Amino acid sequence: MRKKIVAGNWKMNLAYNEAKELVNSLNQYQYPNQNITKILFPPQLYIQQLMNINSQFLIGSQNVSQYNNGAYTGEVSATMLTSINCNYVLIGHSERRHYFNETDEILIEKVKLALQNNLNIIYCIGEDLIQRQNETYLKHLSNQISYLYNNINKTDCYKISIAYEPIWAIGTGLTASPNQAEEVHAFLRNEITKLTSIEIAENTSIIYGGSCNAQNAKSLFECANIDGGLIGGASLKTEDFYKIINSL
Ligand code: PGA
Repeated sequence: MRKKIVAGNWKMNLAYNEAKELVNSLNQYQYPNQNITKILFPPQLYIQQLMNINSQFLIGSQNVSQYNNGAYTGEVSATMLTSINCNYVLIGHSERRHYFNETDEILIEKVKLALQNNLNIIYCIGEDLIQRQNETYLKHLSNQISYLYNNINKTDCYKISIAYEPIWAIGTGLTASPNQAEEVHAFLRNEITKLTSIEIAENTSIIYGGSCNAQNAKSLFECANIDGGLIGGASLKTEDFYKIINSL
């Protein structure tokens, strides 16, 4: 059985008081489905304090360094995250790839260190608008996912979930239709089967991200190969995020 996941990616938003308030207000709700792994990805600065709030949410890191330790001003390592019991990390978000020039090669260094430190990884991939329009998106996604699985050990695969986030849908209000998303999720599961094994592919959660909201979440989550969502903008609004979680 693969894990069902709904994660909120807060990106670089909210002052500390607002962050605390959001966790507290989300925590006032009852979440009937106990089988959903609920994760918040706040700015790194708040991780430890938000972990201290006894909430129904796990707290993860939006990023991790490609280096283990040493003279890398401003970076936070996988060892440091593990040392405060932070167990989840996002790697490869398109904003990291685009604004901070994180290539597949850099990202795999991050993945390796995260795995060595026993972190659970949500690894993000996705095509841009041009790749979608000229129909090279499956090729692009195949390259991204192959690079990941060809560079890790099979025994580590269970620590990795995939987030399919079409770049043209992130923060744009344009969402992949359930058919578009399901096509890609099924394709990715098949690719993972070829790269690893049926067993690993069937146990790997593949979640969708990109303008997922309280209105469209249910139709996306109903698709056979969509195991949850990575939510940006709508995760900053208590009621919307609550509704999205309950749509799974
Ligand atoms: P969005 O962001 O839901 O605001 O489109 C998703 C993400 O970037 O993870």
